[in-house]
Amino acid sequence: MHCPYLGLNMNKFNIENLNLFYGENQALKSICLPIPARQVTALIGPSGCGKSTLLRCLNRMNDLIEGVSINGTLTMDDEDIYGNIDVANLRIKVGMVFQKPNPFPMSIYENVAYGLRAQGLKDKAELDKVVEKSLRGAALWDEVKARLKTPAMGLSGGQQQRLCIARAIAMQPDVILMDEPTSALDPIATNKIEALMESLKKEFTIVIVTHSMQQARRISDRTAFFLMGELVEHDQTHAIFSNPQDSRTKGYVNGDFG
Ligand SMILES: Nc1ncnc2c1ncn2[C@@H]1O[C@H](COP(=O)(O)OP(=O)(O)OP(=O)(O)O)[C@@H](O)[C@H]1O
Ligand SMILES: [Mg+2]
Repeated sequence: MHCPYLGLNMNKFNIENLNLFYGENQALKSICLPIPARQVTALIGPSGCGKSTLLRCLNRMNDLIEGVSINGTLTMDDEDIYGNIDVANLRIKVGMVFQKPNPFPMSIYENVAYGLRAQGLKDKAELDKVVEKSLRGAALWDEVKARLKTPAMGLSGGQQQRLCIARAIAMQPDVILMDEPTSALDPIATNKIEALMESLKKEFTIVIVTHSMQQARRISDRTAFFLMGELVEHDQTHAIFSNPQDSRTKGYVNGDFG
């Protein structure tokens, strides 16, 4: 089966007939989805429909789970990411931010510098530069510039999440995956992260899983709706919310089930 795509060459990822099994249990069923570069794509759908599973396919995090088998095609920049590639390098290019902020038990500065140091960067001036740029990029610099050497654990939840975004940005990825990045945050912290998306997408391709319809509407350019491992519908976000083609999408975005 061929998947019809619009603007093939502008897509960061192309997902074609992707199936994923956890042992016998099929969690993704013949998924066809283009993910355009420098846009925010939201994955929505009820609990257990496969959103996190699909997100993890994009940087091969599912490789770490025993019993997973995958078939189909998934390309990034037209390269098969399930082919013979450097997976560590893929995970640098495709960074990830999780539901619960997970700063390392070290200083704010060291959290952001961590990945660069691991890559062998030692130049203090260069590290300082990247740390500042990344914290600015995550809209956190002004709040922490006077306390960079203090433990990251002393930050509020919302600040910790922005620190995790800064840590991802520091590696200069192409893509940032976010799995319910604001579900553990209060409305003010959520607002800050949402405002940040607008600037992040100028530089990065963002794929976000969210349970909040309002959030998907506010921040995403495109939305994909999943149900029990199937991709029911994907389109421009305004079309999904104002004029869904499938009655199941309509029911979900109207809050009839979920
Ligand atoms: N590590 C795993 N081992 C076995 N089955 C799994 C594993 N992770 C997820 N699944 C199963 O795959 C299906 C999809 O799960 P997934 O976590 O992708 O859903 P989700 O849409 O992210 O749900 P939620 O909104 O609750 O986070 C579910 O049936 C789930 O039980
Ligand atoms: Mg999930």
